[in-house]
Amino acid sequence: MSSERITSYLSEHLDRHVEQLCDWLSIPSISSVSENDDDTRRAAVFIADELRGLGLEVELVKTDGHPLVFAQSEQKPERRTLLFYGHYDVQPVDPLDLWTSPPFEPRIADGVIYARGACDDKGQLYAHVKALEAYVEEGVELPVNVKFIIEGEQECGGPAVYRYTEQNADKLACDAVVISDTSLYNAETPAVCYSLRGLTYMQIDLTGPGADLHSGSFGGVVQNPGNALAEIVAALKDTDGRIRIPGFYDNVLEVDDEERAAFASLNYTDDVLRKETGAPGPFGEAGYTTLERMWARPTCDVNGLWCGYSGEGAKTIVPAAAAAKVSMRLVPDQKPDEIAELFEKYVLEIAPPGVEVKVTYLHGAEAVMVPRDSELMQAGLRAMERGFGKAPVFIREGGSIPIVGTFKACLKSPVLLLGYGLPDDNIHSPNEKFHVDNFARGILTTAAMLEEAAH
Ligand code: BES
Ligand code: MN
Repeated sequence: MSSERITSYLSEHLDRHVEQLCDWLSIPSISSVSENDDDTRRAAVFIADELRGLGLEVELVKTDGHPLVFAQSEQKPERRTLLFYGHYDVQPVDPLDLWTSPPFEPRIADGVIYARGACDDKGQLYAHVKALEAYVEEGVELPVNVKFIIEGEQECGGPAVYRYTEQNADKLACDAVVISDTSLYNAETPAVCYSLRGLTYMQIDLTGPGADLHSGSFGGVVQNPGNALAEIVAALKDTDGRIRIPGFYDNVLEVDDEERAAFASLNYTDDVLRKETGAPGPFGEAGYTTLERMWARPTCDVNGLWCGYSGEGAKTIVPAAAAAKVSMRLVPDQKPDEIAELFEKYVLEIAPPGVEVKVTYLHGAEAVMVPRDSELMQAGLRAMERGFGKAPVFIREGGSIPIVGTFKACLKSPVLLLGYGLPDDNIHSPNEKFHVDNFARGILTTAAMLEEAAH
Protein backbone atom coordinates (compact mmCIF):
# COMPACT_ATOMS: atom_id res chain seq x y z
CA MET A 1 0.00 0.00 0.00
CA SER A 2 1.33 3.37 -0.98
CA SER A 3 0.46 5.06 2.29
CA GLU A 4 2.61 2.62 4.27
CA ARG A 5 5.57 3.37 2.05
CA ILE A 6 4.97 7.05 2.58
CA THR A 7 4.75 6.77 6.36
CA SER A 8 7.84 4.61 6.68
CA TYR A 9 9.78 6.97 4.40
CA LEU A 10 8.73 9.85 6.63
CA SER A 11 9.76 8.22 9.88
CA GLU A 12 13.11 7.17 8.40
CA HIS A 13 13.85 10.69 7.17
CA LEU A 14 12.42 12.81 9.99
CA ASP A 15 15.81 13.71 11.48
CA ARG A 16 17.07 15.01 8.16
CA HIS A 17 13.83 16.91 7.60
CA VAL A 18 14.30 18.64 10.94
CA GLU A 19 17.91 19.49 10.07
CA GLN A 20 16.88 20.97 6.74
CA LEU A 21 14.13 22.95 8.40
CA CYS A 22 16.77 24.32 10.78
CA ASP A 23 18.88 25.39 7.79
CA TRP A 24 15.92 27.35 6.46
CA LEU A 25 15.20 28.80 9.90
CA SER A 26 18.77 30.12 10.04
CA ILE A 27 17.93 32.63 7.33
CA PRO A 28 16.60 35.82 9.00
CA SER A 29 13.80 36.58 6.55
CA ILE A 30 12.27 39.49 8.46
CA SER A 31 10.16 41.08 5.75
CA SER A 32 9.50 44.36 7.52
CA VAL A 33 13.18 45.24 8.01
CA SER A 34 14.83 46.46 4.80
CA GLU A 35 18.30 45.58 6.10
CA ASN A 36 17.16 41.95 5.86
CA ASP A 37 15.95 42.16 2.25
CA ASP A 38 18.76 39.96 0.92
CA ASP A 39 18.09 37.34 3.58
CA THR A 40 14.39 37.46 2.87
CA ARG A 41 15.15 36.76 -0.76
CA ARG A 42 17.51 33.94 0.21
CA ALA A 43 14.67 32.29 2.14
CA ALA A 44 12.53 32.43 -1.00
CA VAL A 45 15.32 30.93 -3.10
CA PHE A 46 15.84 28.18 -0.50
CA ILE A 47 12.26 26.95 -0.77
CA ALA A 48 12.11 27.49 -4.54
CA ASP A 49 15.24 25.34 -5.00
CA GLU A 50 13.83 22.63 -2.81
CA LEU A 51 10.56 22.48 -4.75
CA ARG A 52 12.50 22.42 -8.02
CA GLY A 53 14.52 19.52 -6.63
CA LEU A 54 11.24 17.63 -6.22
CA GLY A 55 10.56 17.95 -9.91
CA LEU A 56 8.08 20.83 -9.73
CA GLU A 57 8.03 23.62 -12.26
CA VAL A 58 9.04 26.62 -10.17
CA GLU A 59 8.95 30.37 -10.72
CA LEU A 60 10.52 32.96 -8.48
CA VAL A 61 8.18 35.85 -9.21
CA LYS A 62 9.65 39.33 -9.00
CA THR A 63 7.37 41.88 -7.31
CA ASP A 64 7.67 45.45 -6.05
CA GLY A 65 8.49 43.93 -2.68
CA HIS A 66 9.63 40.45 -1.71
CA PRO A 67 9.48 37.69 -4.33
CA LEU A 68 6.70 35.14 -4.59
CA VAL A 69 7.33 31.48 -5.21
CA PHE A 70 4.90 29.70 -7.52
CA ALA A 71 5.37 25.98 -8.16
CA GLN A 72 3.36 23.22 -9.70
CA SER A 73 3.58 19.51 -10.36
CA GLU A 74 2.58 18.16 -13.73
CA GLN A 75 -1.12 19.07 -13.97
CA LYS A 76 -3.16 16.08 -15.11
CA PRO A 77 -6.70 17.11 -16.02
CA GLU A 78 -8.32 13.98 -14.55
CA ARG A 79 -6.93 14.67 -11.09
CA ARG A 80 -8.10 17.15 -8.53
CA THR A 81 -5.80 20.03 -7.65
CA LEU A 82 -4.69 21.33 -4.27
CA LEU A 83 -3.08 24.74 -3.90
CA PHE A 84 -0.81 25.07 -0.87
CA TYR A 85 -0.22 28.54 0.50
CA GLY A 86 2.32 29.62 3.11
CA HIS A 87 4.76 32.40 3.89
CA TYR A 88 8.54 32.34 4.17
CA ASP A 89 8.84 35.70 5.93
CA VAL A 90 8.95 36.07 9.68
CA GLN A 91 8.26 38.67 12.34
CA PRO A 92 10.99 40.85 13.88
CA VAL A 93 12.72 39.35 16.92
CA ASP A 94 12.70 42.09 19.51
CA PRO A 95 12.88 42.01 22.51
CA LEU A 96 16.03 40.04 21.76
CA ASP A 97 17.20 39.76 25.37
CA LEU A 98 14.19 37.60 26.24
CA TRP A 99 15.26 34.82 23.87
CA THR A 100 17.05 31.95 25.58
CA SER A 101 18.98 31.24 22.39
CA PRO A 102 19.52 33.42 19.29
CA PRO A 103 16.37 33.46 17.11
CA PHE A 104 18.21 32.54 13.93
CA GLU A 105 20.38 29.81 15.45
CA PRO A 106 17.77 27.05 15.72
CA ARG A 107 18.08 25.00 18.89
CA ILE A 108 16.44 21.66 19.55
CA ALA A 109 15.74 20.73 23.17
CA ASP A 110 13.39 17.99 24.42
CA GLY A 111 11.83 17.50 21.02
CA VAL A 112 11.15 21.20 20.50
CA ILE A 113 12.66 23.44 17.82
CA TYR A 114 13.26 27.02 18.99
CA ALA A 115 13.71 29.68 16.32
CA ARG A 116 11.90 32.64 14.78
CA GLY A 117 9.61 31.17 12.11
CA ALA A 118 9.78 27.63 13.55
CA CYS A 119 5.98 27.56 13.72
CA ASP A 120 4.94 30.75 11.88
CA ASP A 121 5.19 29.74 9.16
CA LYS A 122 8.33 28.03 7.88
CA GLY A 123 7.89 24.88 9.96
CA GLN A 124 4.24 24.40 9.05
CA LEU A 125 4.80 25.17 5.39
CA TYR A 126 7.79 22.84 5.27
CA ALA A 127 5.53 20.00 6.43
CA HIS A 128 3.73 20.27 3.07
CA VAL A 129 7.00 20.15 1.18
CA LYS A 130 8.24 17.09 3.05
CA ALA A 131 4.98 15.22 2.47
CA LEU A 132 5.43 15.87 -1.22
CA GLU A 133 9.05 14.72 -1.00
CA ALA A 134 7.90 11.35 0.33
CA TYR A 135 5.72 10.75 -2.74
CA VAL A 136 8.43 11.85 -5.12
CA GLU A 137 11.29 9.95 -3.52
CA GLU A 138 9.24 6.79 -3.08
CA GLY A 139 8.08 7.01 -6.67
CA VAL A 140 4.44 6.95 -5.60
CA GLU A 141 2.22 8.70 -8.11
CA LEU A 142 0.66 11.85 -6.69
CA PRO A 143 -3.08 11.31 -6.07
CA VAL A 144 -3.76 14.98 -6.90
CA ASN A 145 -2.09 17.82 -8.77
CA VAL A 146 -0.29 20.19 -6.45
CA LYS A 147 0.48 23.88 -6.70
CA PHE A 148 2.26 26.17 -4.25
CA ILE A 149 1.99 29.89 -3.81
CA ILE A 150 4.41 31.12 -1.16
CA GLU A 151 4.77 34.75 -0.20
CA GLY A 152 7.28 36.84 1.69
CA GLU A 153 5.18 39.80 2.77
CA GLN A 154 2.55 38.33 5.02
CA GLU A 155 4.04 39.65 8.23
CA CYS A 156 4.57 43.16 6.88
CA GLY A 157 1.22 43.56 5.17
CA GLY A 158 2.63 43.71 1.62
CA PRO A 159 0.31 43.58 -1.41
CA ALA A 160 2.26 41.35 -3.86
CA VAL A 161 0.31 38.16 -3.31
CA TYR A 162 -3.12 39.84 -3.67
CA ARG A 163 -2.16 41.37 -6.98
CA TYR A 164 -0.70 38.12 -8.20
CA THR A 165 -3.81 36.18 -7.21
CA GLU A 166 -6.14 38.68 -8.86
CA GLN A 167 -4.11 38.64 -12.06
CA ASN A 168 -3.42 34.90 -12.15
CA ALA A 169 -6.65 33.32 -10.98
CA ASP A 170 -6.48 30.75 -13.80
CA LYS A 171 -2.97 29.74 -12.94
CA LEU A 172 -3.92 29.29 -9.27
CA ALA A 173 -7.17 27.47 -10.08
CA CYS A 174 -7.69 24.55 -7.71
CA ASP A 175 -10.29 22.38 -6.01
CA ALA A 176 -9.18 23.56 -2.57
CA VAL A 177 -6.57 25.78 -0.95
CA VAL A 178 -4.69 24.18 1.93
CA ILE A 179 -3.04 26.43 4.50
CA SER A 180 -1.13 25.46 7.62
CA ASP A 181 -0.64 28.77 9.39
CA THR A 182 -2.99 28.38 12.34
CA SER A 183 -2.88 26.06 15.35
CA LEU A 184 -4.23 22.94 16.95
CA TYR A 185 -6.86 23.60 19.61
CA ASN A 186 -4.40 22.31 22.23
CA ALA A 187 -1.67 19.68 22.51
CA GLU A 188 -4.23 16.87 22.76
CA THR A 189 -6.81 18.21 20.31
CA PRO A 190 -6.29 18.71 16.60
CA ALA A 191 -8.50 21.32 14.95
CA VAL A 192 -9.69 22.62 11.65
CA CYS A 193 -10.26 26.36 11.53
CA TYR A 194 -13.20 27.86 9.63
CA SER A 195 -12.91 31.56 10.40
CA LEU A 196 -10.15 34.14 10.76
CA ARG A 197 -10.45 37.65 12.06
CA GLY A 198 -9.58 40.56 9.83
CA LEU A 199 -7.55 43.63 10.63
CA THR A 200 -7.45 47.38 10.38
CA TYR A 201 -4.10 48.78 11.46
CA MET A 202 -3.83 52.49 12.19
CA GLN A 203 -1.27 54.98 13.38
CA ILE A 204 -2.04 58.19 15.25
CA ASP A 205 0.58 60.99 15.20
CA LEU A 206 0.15 64.05 17.38
CA THR A 207 2.38 67.09 17.16
CA GLY A 208 2.41 69.96 19.61
CA PRO A 209 5.29 72.37 20.22
CA GLY A 210 8.05 72.72 17.60
CA ALA A 211 10.52 70.94 19.92
CA ASP A 212 10.55 69.40 23.40
CA LEU A 213 10.05 72.28 25.83
CA HIS A 214 11.16 72.90 29.41
CA SER A 215 8.12 71.70 31.36
CA GLY A 216 8.68 74.42 33.97
CA SER A 217 8.89 77.28 31.51
CA PHE A 218 6.08 76.15 29.23
CA GLY A 219 4.16 73.41 31.04
CA GLY A 220 0.51 74.36 31.42
CA VAL A 221 0.47 76.93 28.63
CA VAL A 222 0.55 74.61 25.61
CA GLN A 223 -1.14 71.26 24.99
CA ASN A 224 0.97 68.24 25.92
CA PRO A 225 0.80 65.66 23.08
CA GLY A 226 1.33 62.83 25.58
CA ASN A 227 -1.66 63.85 27.67
CA ALA A 228 -3.70 64.43 24.52
CA LEU A 229 -2.85 60.99 23.18
CA ALA A 230 -3.78 59.41 26.49
CA GLU A 231 -7.20 61.10 26.26
CA ILE A 232 -7.72 59.73 22.77
CA VAL A 233 -6.64 56.22 23.67
CA ALA A 234 -8.80 56.25 26.80
CA ALA A 235 -11.84 57.16 24.72
CA LEU A 236 -11.46 54.22 22.33
CA LYS A 237 -13.16 51.78 24.73
CA ASP A 238 -15.50 52.00 27.68
CA THR A 239 -14.94 50.25 30.99
CA ASP A 240 -17.03 47.27 29.79
CA GLY A 241 -14.52 46.67 27.01
CA ARG A 242 -16.91 47.96 24.33
CA ILE A 243 -15.40 49.97 21.50
CA ARG A 244 -16.81 53.51 21.37
CA ILE A 245 -16.21 54.31 17.71
CA PRO A 246 -19.65 55.15 16.28
CA GLY A 247 -20.80 52.56 13.74
CA PHE A 248 -18.01 50.15 14.66
CA TYR A 249 -20.36 47.24 15.43
CA ASP A 250 -22.82 47.88 12.60
CA ASN A 251 -21.80 44.93 10.43
CA VAL A 252 -20.65 42.53 13.12
CA LEU A 253 -22.02 39.05 12.55
CA GLU A 254 -23.28 37.94 15.97
CA VAL A 255 -22.39 34.50 17.31
CA ASP A 256 -25.52 32.37 17.13
CA ASP A 257 -26.69 29.92 19.78
CA GLU A 258 -25.30 26.91 17.97
CA GLU A 259 -21.85 28.44 17.76
CA ARG A 260 -22.00 29.59 21.38
CA ALA A 261 -22.76 26.02 22.41
CA ALA A 262 -19.98 24.64 20.22
CA PHE A 263 -17.46 27.08 21.71
CA ALA A 264 -18.66 26.28 25.23
CA SER A 265 -18.17 22.56 24.63
CA LEU A 266 -14.45 23.21 24.05
CA ASN A 267 -14.09 24.04 27.75
CA TYR A 268 -11.63 26.88 27.51
CA THR A 269 -11.00 27.78 31.14
CA ASP A 270 -9.45 30.85 32.76
CA ASP A 271 -6.56 28.62 33.82
CA VAL A 272 -5.87 27.68 30.22
CA LEU A 273 -5.87 31.36 29.32
CA ARG A 274 -3.44 32.13 32.15
CA LYS A 275 -1.18 29.33 31.00
CA GLU A 276 -1.26 30.29 27.32
CA THR A 277 -0.72 34.01 27.92
CA GLY A 278 1.01 34.46 31.27
CA ALA A 279 -1.57 37.19 31.97
CA PRO A 280 -3.02 37.37 35.50
CA GLY A 281 -6.53 36.60 34.30
CA PRO A 282 -9.14 37.13 31.60
CA PHE A 283 -10.31 40.57 30.53
CA GLY A 284 -12.59 41.65 27.73
CA GLU A 285 -15.95 42.75 26.45
CA ALA A 286 -18.73 42.15 28.97
CA GLY A 287 -21.30 39.49 28.03
CA TYR A 288 -18.93 37.23 26.08
CA THR A 289 -16.79 34.23 27.00
CA THR A 290 -13.07 34.11 26.34
CA LEU A 291 -13.42 32.03 23.16
CA GLU A 292 -16.18 34.32 21.88
CA ARG A 293 -13.95 37.34 22.55
CA MET A 294 -10.97 35.66 20.96
CA TRP A 295 -12.63 34.35 17.81
CA ALA A 296 -15.88 36.16 17.15
CA ARG A 297 -15.66 39.67 18.61
CA PRO A 298 -13.73 42.64 17.21
CA THR A 299 -11.00 44.42 19.17
CA CYS A 300 -9.26 47.75 19.45
CA ASP A 301 -5.76 47.43 20.91
CA VAL A 302 -2.79 49.70 21.33
CA ASN A 303 0.21 47.92 19.80
CA GLY A 304 2.75 50.63 20.48
CA LEU A 305 2.73 54.00 22.18
CA TRP A 306 5.59 56.48 22.38
CA CYS A 307 6.26 59.98 23.49
CA GLY A 308 8.76 62.03 25.43
CA TYR A 309 11.44 60.73 27.72
CA SER A 310 11.55 57.10 28.81
CA GLY A 311 15.19 56.77 29.86
CA GLU A 312 16.56 56.52 33.38
CA GLY A 313 15.61 59.12 35.97
CA ALA A 314 13.68 62.30 35.37
CA LYS A 315 13.84 64.74 32.49
CA THR A 316 11.53 67.70 32.70
CA ILE A 317 9.96 68.30 29.31
CA VAL A 318 6.72 68.86 27.49
CA PRO A 319 7.27 66.51 24.52
CA ALA A 320 6.94 67.80 20.99
CA ALA A 321 5.08 64.75 19.71
CA ALA A 322 3.33 61.54 20.62
CA ALA A 323 2.19 58.58 18.58
CA ALA A 324 0.39 55.27 18.82
CA LYS A 325 -0.17 52.23 16.67
CA VAL A 326 -3.61 50.71 17.07
CA SER A 327 -4.91 47.46 15.63
CA MET A 328 -8.52 46.51 15.30
CA ARG A 329 -9.21 42.83 14.76
CA LEU A 330 -12.37 42.51 12.72
CA VAL A 331 -14.99 39.82 12.35
CA PRO A 332 -17.31 39.03 9.45
CA ASP A 333 -18.88 41.24 7.95
CA GLN A 334 -16.88 44.30 9.01
CA LYS A 335 -14.94 45.92 6.17
CA PRO A 336 -11.35 47.02 6.89
CA ASP A 337 -11.52 50.22 4.81
CA GLU A 338 -14.82 51.31 6.34
CA ILE A 339 -13.50 50.69 9.84
CA ALA A 340 -10.39 52.75 9.01
CA GLU A 341 -12.64 55.66 8.02
CA LEU A 342 -14.77 55.38 11.14
CA PHE A 343 -11.64 55.28 13.29
CA GLU A 344 -10.12 58.34 11.66
CA LYS A 345 -13.35 60.32 11.91
CA TYR A 346 -13.76 59.46 15.61
CA VAL A 347 -10.14 60.23 16.54
CA LEU A 348 -10.29 63.61 14.80
CA GLU A 349 -13.55 64.33 16.58
CA ILE A 350 -12.36 63.49 20.10
CA ALA A 351 -8.82 64.89 19.81
CA PRO A 352 -8.37 67.68 22.35
CA PRO A 353 -7.38 71.14 21.09
CA GLY A 354 -3.78 72.33 20.85
CA VAL A 355 -2.30 69.45 18.86
CA GLU A 356 -2.12 68.56 15.20
CA VAL A 357 -3.52 65.12 14.52
CA LYS A 358 -2.61 62.81 11.71
CA VAL A 359 -4.29 59.43 11.33
CA THR A 360 -2.79 56.90 8.91
CA TYR A 361 -4.28 53.63 7.71
CA LEU A 362 -1.31 51.26 7.53
CA HIS A 363 -2.95 48.10 6.27
CA GLY A 364 -6.00 45.93 6.48
CA ALA A 365 -7.22 42.39 6.01
CA GLU A 366 -10.67 41.01 5.46
CA ALA A 367 -12.19 38.68 8.07
CA VAL A 368 -13.27 35.38 6.56
CA MET A 369 -15.51 32.46 7.26
CA VAL A 370 -15.44 29.33 5.12
CA PRO A 371 -18.15 26.70 4.77
CA ARG A 372 -17.73 23.66 6.97
CA ASP A 373 -19.70 21.28 4.78
CA SER A 374 -17.74 21.16 1.51
CA GLU A 375 -16.56 17.77 0.30
CA LEU A 376 -12.91 18.79 0.56
CA MET A 377 -13.44 20.15 4.08
CA GLN A 378 -14.52 16.61 4.98
CA ALA A 379 -11.33 15.34 3.36
CA GLY A 380 -9.37 17.83 5.50
CA LEU A 381 -11.03 16.55 8.67
CA ARG A 382 -10.13 12.96 7.74
CA ALA A 383 -6.55 13.94 6.97
CA MET A 384 -6.15 15.68 10.36
CA GLU A 385 -7.56 12.61 12.06
CA ARG A 386 -5.07 10.38 10.25
CA GLY A 387 -2.12 12.65 10.99
CA PHE A 388 -2.89 13.44 14.62
CA GLY A 389 -4.62 10.19 15.59
CA LYS A 390 -7.77 11.91 16.83
CA ALA A 391 -10.81 13.52 15.25
CA PRO A 392 -10.32 17.30 15.02
CA VAL A 393 -12.66 19.91 16.48
CA PHE A 394 -13.79 22.99 14.58
CA ILE A 395 -12.29 26.24 15.78
CA ARG A 396 -12.06 29.84 14.71
CA GLU A 397 -8.85 31.87 15.12
CA GLY A 398 -8.24 35.38 16.33
CA GLY A 399 -5.34 36.04 13.96
CA SER A 400 -5.46 36.98 10.31
CA ILE A 401 -4.25 35.47 7.07
CA PRO A 402 -4.98 38.35 4.73
CA ILE A 403 -4.83 36.45 1.44
CA VAL A 404 -7.64 34.06 2.41
CA GLY A 405 -10.33 36.62 1.56
CA THR A 406 -8.78 37.10 -1.88
CA PHE A 407 -8.53 33.34 -2.46
CA LYS A 408 -12.18 32.97 -1.55
CA ALA A 409 -13.24 35.74 -3.90
CA CYS A 410 -10.92 35.06 -6.87
CA LEU A 411 -10.48 31.28 -6.87
CA LYS A 412 -13.94 30.41 -5.55
CA SER A 413 -12.65 27.21 -3.99
CA PRO A 414 -12.87 26.05 -0.39
CA VAL A 415 -10.02 27.07 1.90
CA LEU A 416 -8.85 24.49 4.42
CA LEU A 417 -7.03 25.83 7.46
CA LEU A 418 -5.19 22.84 8.86
CA GLY A 419 -2.99 24.20 11.65
CA TYR A 420 -0.08 22.17 13.00
CA GLY A 421 1.22 24.58 15.68
CA LEU A 422 0.19 25.07 19.29
CA PRO A 423 -1.53 28.16 20.70
CA ASP A 424 1.49 28.62 23.01
CA ASP A 425 4.18 28.26 20.35
CA ASN A 426 5.07 31.93 20.99
CA ILE A 427 4.51 33.13 17.45
CA HIS A 428 5.49 36.83 17.14
CA SER A 429 7.11 36.50 20.61
CA PRO A 430 10.48 35.56 22.03
CA ASN A 431 11.33 31.83 22.02
CA GLU A 432 9.03 30.87 19.18
CA LYS A 433 8.91 27.08 19.00
CA PHE A 434 7.55 24.14 17.06
CA HIS A 435 7.35 20.63 18.49
CA VAL A 436 9.10 18.03 16.33
CA ASP A 437 6.18 15.72 17.00
CA ASN A 438 3.72 18.24 15.55
CA PHE A 439 6.03 18.76 12.58
CA ALA A 440 6.03 14.98 12.00
CA ARG A 441 2.26 14.72 12.44
CA GLY A 442 1.79 17.70 10.17
CA ILE A 443 3.79 16.00 7.44
CA LEU A 444 1.65 12.88 7.85
CA THR A 445 -1.48 15.01 7.69
CA THR A 446 -0.44 16.63 4.44
CA ALA A 447 0.52 13.24 3.00
CA ALA A 448 -2.93 11.93 4.00
CA MET A 449 -4.58 15.06 2.59
CA LEU A 450 -3.13 14.33 -0.85
CA GLU A 451 -4.90 10.96 -0.74
CA GLU A 452 -8.11 12.08 0.91
CA ALA A 453 -8.60 14.87 -1.63
CA ALA A 454 -8.42 12.47 -4.58
CA HIS A 455 -11.67 11.25 -6.11
N1 BES B 1 0.00 32.68 11.44
C1 BES B 1 -0.50 33.98 11.70
C2 BES B 1 -2.01 34.04 11.80
C3 BES B 1 -2.53 33.45 13.07
C4 BES B 1 -2.25 34.06 14.26
C5 BES B 1 -3.29 32.34 13.05
C6 BES B 1 -2.74 33.55 15.43
C7 BES B 1 -3.77 31.81 14.21
C8 BES B 1 -3.51 32.41 15.40
C9 BES B 1 -0.10 34.90 10.56
O1 BES B 1 1.17 34.63 10.06
C10 BES B 1 -0.04 36.30 11.08
O2 BES B 1 0.65 36.57 12.00
N2 BES B 1 -0.81 37.16 10.49
C11 BES B 1 -0.76 38.54 10.79
C12 BES B 1 -1.29 39.25 9.61
C13 BES B 1 -1.21 40.73 9.70
C14 BES B 1 0.23 41.21 9.75
C15 BES B 1 -1.92 41.34 8.53
C16 BES B 1 -1.57 38.82 12.04
O3 BES B 1 -2.59 38.17 12.28
O4 BES B 1 -1.15 39.69 12.80
MN1 MN C 1 1.82 32.88 9.80
